[in-house]
Amino acid sequence: MTIRPELIEQLRARRAKLTQNMSEEKLAALHAKGLLSARERLDTLFDDGTFQELGLHAAHNATLFGMNGRELPADGVIAGSGYSGNIQVAAYSQDFSVLAGTLGKMQARKITRIMRHALKIGVPVVAFKDSGGARIQEGVDALSGYGDVFYTNVLLSGVVPQIAVICGPCAGGASYSPALMDFVIMTRHNAHMFLTGPEVIKAVTGRSTTMAEVGGAEMHATVSGNAHFIAEDDQHAISLVKQLLSYLPANNTEDPPHDLAVPIDEMDDPGINDLIPDNAFDPLDMHAVIRHLVDHGELLEVHAGFARNIIVGFARICGVVVGIVANQPMVMAGALDLDAADKAARFVRTCNIFNVPVVTLVDVPGFLPGVEQERGGIIRHGAKMLSAYGSCTTPKITVILRKAYGGSYLAMCSQELGADMVFAWPTAEIAVMGAEAAVRVLYRKELDQAADRQAKAAELAQAYREEFASPYVSASNFYITDVIEPGDTRWMLALALRKTLDKRELRPAKKHGNIPM
Ligand code: HXC
Repeated sequence: MTIRPELIEQLRARRAKLTQNMSEEKLAALHAKGLLSARERLDTLFDDGTFQELGLHAAHNATLFGMNGRELPADGVIAGSGYSGNIQVAAYSQDFSVLAGTLGKMQARKITRIMRHALKIGVPVVAFKDSGGARIQEGVDALSGYGDVFYTNVLLSGVVPQIAVICGPCAGGASYSPALMDFVIMTRHNAHMFLTGPEVIKAVTGRSTTMAEVGGAEMHATVSGNAHFIAEDDQHAISLVKQLLSYLPANNTEDPPHDLAVPIDEMDDPGINDLIPDNAFDPLDMHAVIRHLVDHGELLEVHAGFARNIIVGFARICGVVVGIVANQPMVMAGALDLDAADKAARFVRTCNIFNVPVVTLVDVPGFLPGVEQERGGIIRHGAKMLSAYGSCTTPKITVILRKAYGGSYLAMCSQELGADMVFAWPTAEIAVMGAEAAVRVLYRKELDQAADRQAKAAELAQAYREEFASPYVSASNFYITDVIEPGDTRWMLALALRKTLDKRELRPAKKHGNIPM
């Protein structure tokens, strides 16, 4: 007895029909544009021979309005799970060659099914988005399908990492699913994400615009903040996914992949001293400092093009995975504004969800003063940082390099906001407000009467720095842990991180805090 050969042939024929829906010519045209096919994206993500597909034979109802019996292989989405560099991952990939990868009821069922599978077994989800949005022929079924996808995104949020890769269009309501995920990667030339495209905008508002202006990767990565990374093409996007996964745990009950076998080096790092400008007004390049502090100088920067006055990203310090949050004095003197506050708060919350310790590097003159900032809600936005740091229960280590003034000092994870250790360099200035501003408030009359107003102001500001803003004032009041030599920072951070990795913090039971939105 053996299985009838025609059954095997029938199965193979069905598979071949469902999986090979694109000619070599069309494939070559995709490759020339930096695109991969939907299946190639999954093949590139997963280790050979580890992908198991779910729902290959699932089909939409071919009798739907306007479909004329047309078949849609795999209903325009390939879903399944596999291993990527030995990490188990669930993924789906919308197939633009099948009616523009549009989403109907069956596609939504496949997507939510693989997402719930990821939730059950506790593994990350990677979603390749390449879709014209709701499949119009399916009407409210498509709408309902999107509702199911969004709800499932929310269920998974905070449990397993969710990474969206936008490879082509991501139109209409479809864009809300990436917005509910942890990281969004867009390819530079092919990805477009928008609620309403240029045609609708023209019809409704009369204003002409372009796809790049309202939905391009560059715009989302620098202006709207909807994209965390720009990739040059699909291959690059997948390598970014793999890099991200190398810093994240499979789910919120696990630790990130620390390498605790790495020894803590006690090596002094004198080169770091040379990065500190002589003049307190000259900016320090925080990227250069970070390169000295993290393993191999490697930082996977998140949101690199958005709110560049603050730097956030993942790195390792002597093997321990950390999230870095650092002011960048080279941009807007490192002042915190609306976007910087959103960027930092969101990143700290991401670290907290996935048990990643947070290292905060402070050189901040304050919140950016200005009418637009106040009217834009800097109080509400800045409060997001206080809320995010205050709620974060992973290890939090702060280093104050130079300026740490007023509310921005607290918002950059001071001891009061729950930092487990706060180190300051001898160059630190910690004060209720900047020296120049304080002098203007306190010594208005003296300055008005001074023969040389500028010289008098500089003299008083210097005295203020030495008397009030010196790190030893904070150290003697026990508001910081210690004043350290810059060359010892990496070593001190490594020790502090190892010691706080098993930290446990009890909080009052509640559904969730009310983060200012
Ligand atoms: C059904 C669609 C479709 C859609 C495209 N197609 N979008 N079919 N529903 N939403 C079909 C086209 O008719 C065409 O069919 C095939 O897919 C390829 O599309 P083309 O337009 O030829 O491709 P291209 O020129 O590359 O343009 C791709 C595109 C464009 C940019 C995605 O098609 C487009 O703008 N589509 C509409 C996008 C949109 O408005 N989406 C919002 C839907 S409403 P044939 O038969 O020629 O192969 C929505 C609300 C959901 O999403 C709300 C949820 C909260």
